Amino acid sequence: MKYMGSKRTMLQNGLGKVLLQEISGATRFVDLFAGSGSVAIFVAQKFEIPVLAFDLQEYSVILTAAIISRNAKLDWLPIWKRWLQRATTQYRSHRIPKAEFLTQKLIHDLRIWCDKQTDLPITKAYGGHYFSPRQAVWIDALRATLPKELSSKKVALAALIQAASRCAAAPGHTAQPFQPTRTAKRFIKEAWDLDVVEKTKTAFELLATQSANKVGKAEVADANKAVKKLRSGDLVFLDPPYSGVHYSRFYHVLETIAKGSCGEVTGVGRYPASELRPRSKYSVSSESAKALEDLFKSIALHSATAIVTFPDHVCSNGLSGKLVREIASKYFQIREQLVTSKFSTLGGTGDERGNEAGRSARQHANELILVLTPKARDQILLSLGPATPTPSDTPQRT
Ligand SMILES: C[S@@+](CC[C@H](N)C(=O)[O-])C[C@H]1O[C@@H](n2cnc3c(N)ncnc32)[C@H](O)[C@@H]1O
Repeated sequence: MKYMGSKRTMLQNGLGKVLLQEISGATRFVDLFAGSGSVAIFVAQKFEIPVLAFDLQEYSVILTAAIISRNAKLDWLPIWKRWLQRATTQYRSHRIPKAEFLTQKLIHDLRIWCDKQTDLPITKAYGGHYFSPRQAVWIDALRATLPKELSSKKVALAALIQAASRCAAAPGHTAQPFQPTRTAKRFIKEAWDLDVVEKTKTAFELLATQSANKVGKAEVADANKAVKKLRSGDLVFLDPPYSGVHYSRFYHVLETIAKGSCGEVTGVGRYPASELRPRSKYSVSSESAKALEDLFKSIALHSATAIVTFPDHVCSNGLSGKLVREIASKYFQIREQLVTSKFSTLGGTGDERGNEAGRSARQHANELILVLTPKARDQILLSLGPATPTPSDTPQRT
């Protein structure tokens, strides 16, 4: 699955090696910004260590938990067959208009039909935009008939999210669907022709036949709150946002599938109300540096080692590799590596709010990998001056 800022490629290009070096001696691996789950899943499958993962977004937690929360494979085929049967019955109860020869008028009519499907939340919100009416009704039917058993349910929902992400008629993320203009119509056709059921099946098999070495856990939480659960001996991974546009703007379709509904949507992007979308301090340039500093301080006071990755240039959320390094140096000894990465913007046309959301889909850029070893507690407190640490800085017994 394409994900803005995914570390999937970097795991083969420096990051995997750094993890291998740092993991020995660690008792848990904690990913505070899990995203697509690529790093948490890599560690859970490669090393004999439990992995904890956090993210503000529910879809991220579902994608990550689908593998890290199990240490056994699932016997996927019978589960899939029963799921498909239930979904097919639901799907067949709807009379869905055909979407064969796409014209602007037909797409307009299909959107109207979808909008009237009040009992089908995905179809109502996104049908005729990101998905064809058929794809959307299938997603609703599969979402409504997920397996009941918890472990199978998590994997099934993750598979559906992945399949929907692959089928969406949008450039890699879901900030805006393709519009039926003369040039973009063919992209809609291409995406709408994709078989969402087949893609769900493939993803379900792939996820179900993978598992973690040790059972871990993924939770929806703000990194700055999750950090209070750290223990000494934890190896913490930080891959914070670099964009001044909230992730919830790019991935609201996946979040709706994760949650099951989203209420009224508006605009070309079909956004749910902004108060229903997670807001991150890391995507607000006036708040990002303070949020990162609080996070670093708390990790260091918990005596945990951290690995942080960040683009080595000034990003639209106001952070840069240089600033990240400067803030970290107050609390940690730093070892540093620079790797060339493909820096993903996923071609967002965005909100005229900076490079990450506004330029071409992929740019070559350098990315920093910093390994942070906490300074001694006394040294940190001394450098902070006379103020005593707040209770939230003080490690809790677990
Ligand atoms: C750069 S992406 C992480 C990508 C991930 N390492 C991967 O390989 O897919 C940053 C992630 O941080 C999440 N996020 C943003 N603010 C957060 C916060 N305050 N606490 C936890 N997660 C947050 C976003 O939802 C996004 O998934």
